[in-house]
Amino acid sequence: MSLRLAILGMGSVGRGIIQTISQKELGLIITAVADSRSGCIDPDGLDIPDLLERKEKTGICGDTNINAENVVLNAPYDILVEVTPTDARSGEPATSYILNALKLGRHVVTSNKGPVSLHYHALSSLAGNNGVQFRFEATVAGAIPIIQTLMHNLGGNEIISLYGVLNGTCNYILTRMAEEGLTYRQALDEARTLGYAETDPTYDVKGIDAAIKLVILANTVWKKNISLDDVDVTGIDLLTEEALRLAEQQDATIRLIGEIIPEQNIYRLCPRIIPRDHPLVVQGSLNAIIVRTDLAGDLLFVGKGAGSLETASAVIGDILFIRDKYAGGN
Ligand code: HSE
Repeated sequence: MSLRLAILGMGSVGRGIIQTISQKELGLIITAVADSRSGCIDPDGLDIPDLLERKEKTGICGDTNINAENVVLNAPYDILVEVTPTDARSGEPATSYILNALKLGRHVVTSNKGPVSLHYHALSSLAGNNGVQFRFEATVAGAIPIIQTLMHNLGGNEIISLYGVLNGTCNYILTRMAEEGLTYRQALDEARTLGYAETDPTYDVKGIDAAIKLVILANTVWKKNISLDDVDVTGIDLLTEEALRLAEQQDATIRLIGEIIPEQNIYRLCPRIIPRDHPLVVQGSLNAIIVRTDLAGDLLFVGKGAGSLETASAVIGDILFIRDKYAGGN
């Protein structure tokens, strides 16, 4: 029997997930979808080419009398896939959708950083009490499976520190400015067109997006209880083209680097001048993370940190974990 998915959000990530599920035999069907203005439900599985075409042509996925809340409460599904835009301060409306699904005993997979950064402990214990999964690999570093790796594969280690590039949009902007001489504005526009930027791109350039990822890592991997206000944040929005040029003249460049040193309560994000041959100097939308551990030593992770299919890869990995663990669904 196929596992049934209800998907909230039909932006870049939602469409990437839907396309992938239609192209691969994964034992999954999509029984409901909602975007910000409409929804559609079919217990036998939605016609995906039809759905994608409708969204493309009309801008909405279905019936304007159906909304995300209806889908969560009334649609038939085993896993809620919550991929709506992040609200960093309130976490809503995504947190309510997730809470309701978990209360109904449904698994939840999300790429939404708001609910995870604000309510990870409460949501994961609700999931645990209800015997379902709450999974969020796609919230940090896009295609790089960093959360599972740190929480489980490296679970026997003390993770001493983490440094890295955690925002694909900023990395793309810095790369395009340095290598092609684009202005900040031109490079940001490209990142938006390519689907890397958040719905509100000030989250990217002001460093909020990467800072939230530090919060998620701190609270999940190190079981801390920090918030965005505990992170010292400087974005790239005030960085001048001149500063970047000066760095380049010295065989260096600038990258937006996040840092966690839990022992010293350091949670920090700021642009740094680093030598061009440093492993954290990656190009385009790539993310790069160096983790220092007691047993495994230093590890370097590099991969696409943003993008429709890259983020879909992480979401689908979480869905397939649930499929394999709970074969047969609810
Ligand atoms: N806007 C984010 C980024 C998407 O550019 O990294 C992935 O979280």
